[in-house]
Amino acid sequence: MNEIIQSLYDRKSVRAFEDRPVPAELKAELLAAAAQAPTAGCQQLYTILDITDPALKAALAETCDHQDFIAKAPVVLVFCADCLRWYDAYQAAGRTPRRPGPGDLMLAVTDAAIAAQNAVVAAQSLGLGSCYIGDIMERYEDQRRLLDLPPWVFPACMLVLGWPTQQQRERKKPARFDPAFVVHENGYRRLDEGQLRAMFRDRCGGQSFEGFLSAFCDRKYESDFSREMSRSVGEYLRDLERAPEHPTWE
Ligand SMILES: Cc1cc2nc3c(=O)[nH]c(=O)nc-3n(C[C@H](O)[C@H](O)[C@H](O)COP(=O)(O)O)c2cc1C
Repeated sequence: MNEIIQSLYDRKSVRAFEDRPVPAELKAELLAAAAQAPTAGCQQLYTILDITDPALKAALAETCDHQDFIAKAPVVLVFCADCLRWYDAYQAAGRTPRRPGPGDLMLAVTDAAIAAQNAVVAAQSLGLGSCYIGDIMERYEDQRRLLDLPPWVFPACMLVLGWPTQQQRERKKPARFDPAFVVHENGYRRLDEGQLRAMFRDRCGGQSFEGFLSAFCDRKYESDFSREMSRSVGEYLRDLERAPEHPTWE
């Protein structure tokens, strides 16, 4: 295994950080590495919010499903899918372009997530730990207010980064499913019950298939935060239709 692939295996999410800062030049290196990610049409359809205000970190810890470790992270980055900047540039150049649609948003979310993953890989190479925070997609109204988000700018994902504690360095990385269940040749193949049971065989710990999946369903899929995320993303999608043709700062 070469060292880049080995580093992908070694990376795991880090949720507790040493109480020491990340030097500004390292953060700058991370952000520059993020920008080297592939990007649709070389447009960089994202804006990265570098959250340095401790009060804002604390507020985000609250609005992102009460995850306290966010407030303690030395680096907090919000990767926003940005459908506004190019629109504004087109307008500045004298065009009156169509308003962005769901396809533009999906493309921008892909761009933002790929840039974030570049930052994750760069962080790993520097000895820094990171964790994605998907809950930034929740609480549309609060996140927009906290982060001054205009219409057509969607917080696709958040990263917290810092120096991992010893306990986090020693934590076992959760195993992945066998690729046979995840990689399908030449087209999608819906798994039957037997295959699903086989897929989860090593995932259930001591529990039965039914017990494990029922508890997981309650904890994740049917959770309040999951439902809130869908409501919130629905609001961002509705913005694409209801925002003024030429959005202005309120
Ligand atoms: C889109 C996305 C959202 C995530 N959101 C959270 C989160 O809100 N809180 C958290 O503690 N971990 C979050 N994670 C981290 C996952 O829980 C973690 O990647 C997964 O359990 C696999 O573990 P590993 O990263 O250590 O390999 C998120 C990961 C992704 C990719």
